Amino acid sequence: MGTRAELRAALAALPGSRALVMTMGALHDGHLSLVREARSRAEHVVVSIYVNPLQFGPGEDFEAYPRDVDADVALLAHEGVDLVFAPSDEEAYPAQPLVRVDPGPVAGVLEGRTRPGHFAGVLQIVAKVLNLVRPDVAVFGQKDAQQLALVRTLVRDLDLGVQIVGVPIRREEDGLAMSSRNAYLSPDERRRALALSRALAAGRDAAAAGGAVAEVRRVAEDVLGAAEGVRVDYLALVDPDTFLPLDERATGAGLLAVAAWVGTTRLIDNMTVDLQGPRP
Ligand code: PAF
Repeated sequence: MGTRAELRAALAALPGSRALVMTMGALHDGHLSLVREARSRAEHVVVSIYVNPLQFGPGEDFEAYPRDVDADVALLAHEGVDLVFAPSDEEAYPAQPLVRVDPGPVAGVLEGRTRPGHFAGVLQIVAKVLNLVRPDVAVFGQKDAQQLALVRTLVRDLDLGVQIVGVPIRREEDGLAMSSRNAYLSPDERRRALALSRALAAGRDAAAAGGAVAEVRRVAEDVLGAAEGVRVDYLALVDPDTFLPLDERATGAGLLAVAAWVGTTRLIDNMTVDLQGPRP
């Protein structure tokens, strides 16, 4: 269904708790793991499918973004999803939005530095769909770790009264993080793209072996530096809540995050690392 009126009527016919999964379609197993998590947390599952123009910058892949709503709806029906909301642009934004969500400082680093305005666009649609669906729980993937952190902040700061649940990244057998954008990769690029998860795993292992911040970053950078056909946008080891860089003495959880172009496709990935601090 695509209109607010249809959505309202369908929600009214679904008494009980509801969990929301927001997507841009082109669904893969990663999305389905969000749906399954949602199903375990509420009586009804609502999935939205909308390629939100506000979160794409000039020159990004808004036009090319893969769209196949019929295939997505069939997959979701198979998962027992109760309701799919797939609005048109006119239905999503009946008027040019004048009141905008300001995502604050976390939106200015990493993804936000390369994609100015991206998180403002994300939070605009997230706030809107949360208000339309009014779920008890909303489930987001940890692959977009910065998005997940900003959604949590949105909900906290605006008292949106919904529980936000993060779901671990789903990976292909060879380690590549599942992403709708993997569909852009040629077989050769697909092979080169493995450098991202390999670099993160090397950093994670270095931390587990007692490496501190600089060493973890260096080990991961070395893997990326040796990879052909991979242009790194950023590799950062940050605090998982603030997304600020960690200092050398940091201990506990850090987020090792990477973004890189493989051919013309920009991919992101991340892993949590367990830092033990500088060696004595
Ligand atoms: O993660 C995504 O697919 C999008 O950013 C989201 C949350 C559906 C908002 O458009």
